[in-house]
Amino acid sequence: MGKVVIMDHPLVAHKLTIMRDKNTSVKDFRELVSEIGMLITYEATRDLPMTTKHIETPICEMDAPTLAGRKFVVVPILRAGLGLVDGVLRMVPAARVGHIGMYRDEETLEPHPYFCKMPKDVAERDVLIVDPMLATGGSAAEAIGEMKKRGCKHIKLMVLVAAPEGIKFLQEKHPDVDIYAGALDDHLNEKGYIVPGLGDAGDRIFGTK
Ligand code: URA
Repeated sequence: MGKVVIMDHPLVAHKLTIMRDKNTSVKDFRELVSEIGMLITYEATRDLPMTTKHIETPICEMDAPTLAGRKFVVVPILRAGLGLVDGVLRMVPAARVGHIGMYRDEETLEPHPYFCKMPKDVAERDVLIVDPMLATGGSAAEAIGEMKKRGCKHIKLMVLVAAPEGIKFLQEKHPDVDIYAGALDDHLNEKGYIVPGLGDAGDRIFGTK
């Protein structure tokens, strides 16, 4: 079973509290999405493979640790996932960015991909799918399925806030995928919003309410 890592860190908790406040401005909200994105990336990259490089410090020679250079792609789920991209890129500047867009079928309520643009060698890359909210898990599960169809083997999901329902659904559909979340909230309400949550993340990032 994949790992579920809930960030247990004062900075993440503090920043999330500001984001949850409905009076927080679009500007501050957007900056905080990016900052928490950076902090969760720190945790989600903890198992990146390392090698050593022979260097000379001003004092002596040494074999110093360096990233083994495994290829990495960050995949925002449109549109709210876009808010997390720059935080990831500040930590992993050489990462590629693939985009996936999803629409909801009005009758079945199932999410379907309408747009998917990935780097050519995506199957060889470690994938980090990003979306601020893991609510029912429907879009995330569909996005993971699309990446698997393209041959991706190492897939992680990063969210700011997760609902227990979404985590359970993903663990059933994609038990191999690790989930990284800034917080685990209480439940989903009848409209599919996370409680206490922070409202519609896309609207709050882009100021479209
Ligand atoms: N998507 C959001 O933006 N917010 C929620 O609470 C649930 C899904």
